[in-house]
Amino acid sequence: MNNKKNFNPDKDFYWLAFFSFLLFVVVIIAFYREANPEWKKYQREFKNYLEENISPESASAFEFSVKQLWLPELNKVDRCISCHLGYDQPNLTEAPEPYAAHPDILPHSVLKMGCTICHGGQGFALKKKDAHGEVEHWEEPMLGAKLAKKYGFESEKILMQMNCNTCHRRDEDLTGMEMINLGKNLLTQKKKCQTCHIIDGKGGKLAADLTFIGDKPAERFDFSQIKDKLIESERPLSVLSWHFEHFMNPKAVVPDSKMPYVKYTEEEAWALAMLMMSWRSVSLPVMLIPEEKREEVPPPEKKLEKRKLSIVEWGKELFESKGCSECHTIGGGVEVGPDLIGITKLRDIQWLRKMILDPEKMEQTDPLAKKLYQEYEETGMPTEELTLQEVEAIIKYIESFNKESN
Ligand code: HEC
Ligand code: HEC
Ligand code: HEC
Ligand code: HEC
Ligand code: HEC
Repeated sequence: MNNKKNFNPDKDFYWLAFFSFLLFVVVIIAFYREANPEWKKYQREFKNYLEENISPESASAFEFSVKQLWLPELNKVDRCISCHLGYDQPNLTEAPEPYAAHPDILPHSVLKMGCTICHGGQGFALKKKDAHGEVEHWEEPMLGAKLAKKYGFESEKILMQMNCNTCHRRDEDLTGMEMINLGKNLLTQKKKCQTCHIIDGKGGKLAADLTFIGDKPAERFDFSQIKDKLIESERPLSVLSWHFEHFMNPKAVVPDSKMPYVKYTEEEAWALAMLMMSWRSVSLPVMLIPEEKREEVPPPEKKLEKRKLSIVEWGKELFESKGCSECHTIGGGVEVGPDLIGITKLRDIQWLRKMILDPEKMEQTDPLAKKLYQEYEETGMPTEELTLQEVEAIIKYIESFNKESN
């Protein structure tokens, strides 16, 4: 055969040797990269920093590892602290980023909240570019200094207010949320939005319900009228920019818009745009909902709509999945706990909410709950992590039995 004739032992040997060597180099590089991920570089630097600036003991106590805040109630794992290593160490206020102590955020606690709930970004990522969401069209960019600059803001603190307001929606005037405060004031000035829009269940039906406008995805906004303008001004092609342009002049964005033109300053238009972005439907554990406002969380109609569930059906699902049905019946008699039939007529609604949210606290502090606790031979009712929306759904479910027995 031809092949055999062409066989040249010398030449082939060199090729083989060459490729083996190449493979070897690739393997070595792969090993090196595996053993030296980006976060480790920062951790090594951090250790050196401790050694030189704090104390040799603190340096030797530091161990290399992926570090994370696990927040099961929020369904989040934030690994930002694999690089942001000094966040909880008050003696590191002078350290350079990413090693500096976090500025004071009391009364919030990163142990309960993690990082991304305020900053945005990708909590699970371990490379800076991914974590900070600097990748083009990343779904959750970090509301950081770079992004703020693109919008022309002097500091990232301005953009972050959008995230602050997912929890503080019901608060009127909070320090650190000046833009959002301004936006909230504008809702009832000049042209009242609720003449035409529903917000939190109240308002006119001339235009879209805005309660969760922050969830509306970018694909459903029409950018055709403003695309060129945004590209020219080098502002991001984003929903935030859409809202800004729309408040500056509705007809410039939606040519046949019936939304009235109001002469807003740029600052006012940004404030309203940010407020719109912050109106998202997020389920938060009760402990993260600011105190007095707990009663007013709007019901999660949108989510239920998606799942084709009524609030009562959702309540039934929760009653079973959260363990209530293990101890309670509704109309089937006393078991471990009282029969809950008619309980919504018997008890004050606020009392019921508190009893379901935090029974262990109630058993200690509330006279009626104390009495029940003794009556039921101190079995006690366990505290479940429930959101207020979930509690409302459970109450609606229990209530639905009243109507049946009428
Ligand atoms: C792989 C390491 C690494 C990870 C992971 C990381 N960072 Fe950073 N971060 C840095 C470094 C380094 C800096 C210093 C400034 C710079 O280079 O951007 C920094 C700077 C920052 C800044 C200040 C600068 C700015 O752009 O506003 C913020 C805020 C920040 N990080 C937040 C986060 C959050 C939130 C997470 C988690 C989602 C995170 N970082 C994850 C390395 C990291
Ligand atoms: C309650 C909201 C909140 C949480 C939670 C939070 N931060 Fe911050 N963070 C802020 C605010 C507000 C600032 C700006 C503070 C200032 O400049 O006074 C800030 C500043 C920073 C900075 C410095 C930015 C700069 O410009 O120098 C870094 C880095 C940072 N945070 C990282 C983190 C990391 C990592 C976590 C999680 C361990 C975290 N943050 C959790 C609100 C928060
Ligand atoms: C995950 C929910 C959450 C986020 C995000 C959040 N907060 Fe809070 N905030 C709370 C809770 C809970 C309290 C506790 C106060 C209470 O129970 O009334 C609080 C308290 C405060 C207070 C004190 C209020 C008072 O009445 O004394 C201020 C000011 C504040 N937050 C500002 C901010 C700012 C600014 C941000 C964004 C950087 C932010 N919050 C982000 C949940 C949140
Ligand atoms: C006179 C009635 C009217 C008033 C008052 C009004 N709007 Fe509108 N709005 C509309 C109409 C009609 C549309 C749909 C056409 C458009 O997008 O411009 C709209 C659209 C919007 C949209 C885009 C909704 C989407 O899903 O695309 C937002 C956001 C919005 N309005 C916010 C506000 C806010 C905030 C205020 C108060 C400051 C306000 N509007 C006042 C009539 C009104
Ligand atoms: C381990 C058993 C147990 C579980 C699980 C349980 N409960 Fe209870 N529940 C009790 C007992 C016992 C009482 C009587 C008061 C006490 O001991 O604290 C009670 C009291 C109540 C009351 C007050 C009744 C009255 O007479 O005013 C309500 C309402 C209630 N439970 C609802 C719920 C809901 C909703 C759930 C699920 C989220 C739930 N319970 C889960 C045992 C339980």
